Amino acid sequence: MSPSRISRTFLGSPASITEARRFITAFLRNWPCVDDAELIVSELATNAVRHSDSGRFGGRFTVSIETRNSWLWLSVLDEGGPRSPRALPPLTSAENGRGLMLVGELSAAWGVTGDDKGRIVWAVLKTLPEAATRR
Ligand SMILES: Nc1ncnc2c1ncn2[C@@H]1O[C@H](COP(=O)(O)OP(=O)(O)O)[C@@H](O)[C@H]1O
Ligand SMILES: [Mg+2]
Repeated sequence: MSPSRISRTFLGSPASITEARRFITAFLRNWPCVDDAELIVSELATNAVRHSDSGRFGGRFTVSIETRNSWLWLSVLDEGGPRSPRALPPLTSAENGRGLMLVGELSAAWGVTGDDKGRIVWAVLKTLPEAATRR
């Protein structure tokens, strides 16, 4: 399968998290991993809005999807800020601090690059390519 790549930029507001989910489901409609990908991007977009400067007035974040053979690469670029993404120890609280742990569980690998000017949080999933599921 030929590699393909798509990115879209969203306003850094809570309403954009739903839009980012729709962007994923539209692009990965026929992929078996669409639900995991949607969840991962939802967590990363939520973090960009809640924890980075993307959530400030006029802020934005960018979601990218890249597919290559049976690998799917997802990422969210934010506008940085003083805090950095880090998976919190379990049971910090019932509701908070689980997003990145979940990303770690659903992906083959994940990580962070960048600095206070902008960070990319990425995750890679190994999955059947779209074409294989159509046969
Ligand atoms: N994009 C980000 N920019 C800055 N800090 C982040 C970002 N994503 C996550 N973090 C930091 O990592 C912590 C853990 O994130 P997460 O596991 O999603 O838990 P939660 O969002 O519920 O606090 C956050 O509390 C925050 O301090
Ligand atoms: Mg979170």
